[in-house]
Amino acid sequence: MRRFEISPSLLSADFGYVMRDVESITPYCSFLHLDVMDGHYVPNLTIGVPVVKSIRKHSDLILDTHLMITNPEEFIEPFAQAGSDYITFHVECTDSPFELIEKIRALGKKAGVAIHPDTPASEIYPFLVKDAADLILVMSVRPGFGGQSYMPGSTERIADYRRRLDENGSEAILSVDGGINDKTVKEAADAGARLLVAGSAVFGKEDPGQAAKGLYELIGETV
Ligand code: DX5
Ligand code: ZN
Repeated sequence: MRRFEISPSLLSADFGYVMRDVESITPYCSFLHLDVMDGHYVPNLTIGVPVVKSIRKHSDLILDTHLMITNPEEFIEPFAQAGSDYITFHVECTDSPFELIEKIRALGKKAGVAIHPDTPASEIYPFLVKDAADLILVMSVRPGFGGQSYMPGSTERIADYRRRLDENGSEAILSVDGGINDKTVKEAADAGARLLVAGSAVFGKEDPGQAAKGLYELIGETV
């Protein structure tokens, strides 16, 4: 992994030409962010296990799966089998987060924990300690839709989590999701995010590969 990575969110791709869009970013990117929504935790529906499985068949990108579903425990195994590399669930959606992390790791996958912008920051603190999680996902919009604006306060939250991860010697990847574009990417990276999810700013553009390359350049990362 480079110091910074852009994880293009497939949510903004053209699902009629999904592999064309994935191939467009493949020369520049290592990660692909897959948003799974259930119409319960968030007021929207997106993709599920069969789509992840099909993408896995045709792509070697690191599949960064973001579960926005109320019952993540029931879907860890199916998404692991479908070929996800990272499986991230919301801290708001489970009473047994540590068991879920263990379950994900036991399946040979990396475990991520996401936090909604309206949830008190302290809810994520137990995961900012060494070895507790492999990825921490800071939501910088209310989850559910692409194309929203980066919420005020997100940068401060990233900086707070960065400091805690470093102080605790955690090597978890700090990721940010929502409203990342040419105006916000540097601010989020400077605050300490390492994996920057971008949907509309990549797949919403005519040439997603060039758009991803442009974001890497803005944060001074080689492409
Ligand atoms: C929103 C999703 C995001 C979304 C980001 O709930 O989790 O991954 O695709 O889209 P943009 O980058 O357009 O804000
Ligand atoms: Zn997402």
